[in-house]
Amino acid sequence: MRAKDIREKAGEEPLTMLTAYDAPTAELVDAAGVDIILVGDSIGNLRLGYESTLPVTVEEIESATAAVARATEDAMLIADMPFLSFGADEDEAVENCGRMLKEADADGVKLESGPHTVELTRRLAQIGVPVQAHLGLTPQRENETGLFRQATDEDAARRIIDLAERHEDAGAFSLVLEHVPANVGAAVTEAIDIPTIGIGAGPECDGQVLTVDEVIGLSEDVAPFSKAFGDVRSEMREAIDGYTSAVENGEFPAEEHSHYEDEVDDVY
Ligand code: KIV
Ligand code: NA
Repeated sequence: MRAKDIREKAGEEPLTMLTAYDAPTAELVDAAGVDIILVGDSIGNLRLGYESTLPVTVEEIESATAAVARATEDAMLIADMPFLSFGADEDEAVENCGRMLKEADADGVKLESGPHTVELTRRLAQIGVPVQAHLGLTPQRENETGLFRQATDEDAARRIIDLAERHEDAGAFSLVLEHVPANVGAAVTEAIDIPTIGIGAGPECDGQVLTVDEVIGLSEDVAPFSKAFGDVRSEMREAIDGYTSAVENGEFPAEEHSHYEDEVDDVY
């Protein structure tokens, strides 16, 4: 999938987007037919043990994106640009975004958007770097906004619609809309032609995105607008407990793990 395919599919069928941060997860997400895989800066809280997304570095996103790219065949792959990798110096931002395509094999980048990203989006789109905009709750601004629902009054909703239109005009190929009332999700979707992909933005968006850790039940916390469709955490706990007790009580390794016939040399 490329930006062009995503735009074509929108409006005909709901778009699916999910995060992945490593190769084996990406392989499963891709095989499920998900349209867009996002290497989100949510890797910070979900996988790297940070308290927020703010400490995530360009190198961390680049490395995870390269791993996901090696396991992805069909989905469009988007790298989420971390805090301060854009928004200050424009040349530096273009270089950081370009790295995701040149070095990590991403198909596009996502920028938490605002008035400061309109011209950057235009420049990237002109160069040939597909940009996904992101409005509503933008967690990289959590020191300013908290992690609350956004656009809860009419003025704020109008500002988001205006910014969505300006990013569409600048050449963004789609827009993530996070944690806004469902009627704002519907209004933004109505106002622009590029596909909207919602997370806590109601059912009227052109697609939906969640973090894979919440979907599979790996993360302990699940946002009120998200949903666990599995319980991987319990499965992991059982497997790890099972291994630990088996070694402790002498059940592992058993005969078959100790005196096998063939040399196994292609596991790693
Ligand atoms: O970092 C992330 O996972 C995201 C999505 C939830 C949209 O930005
Ligand atoms: Na993000």
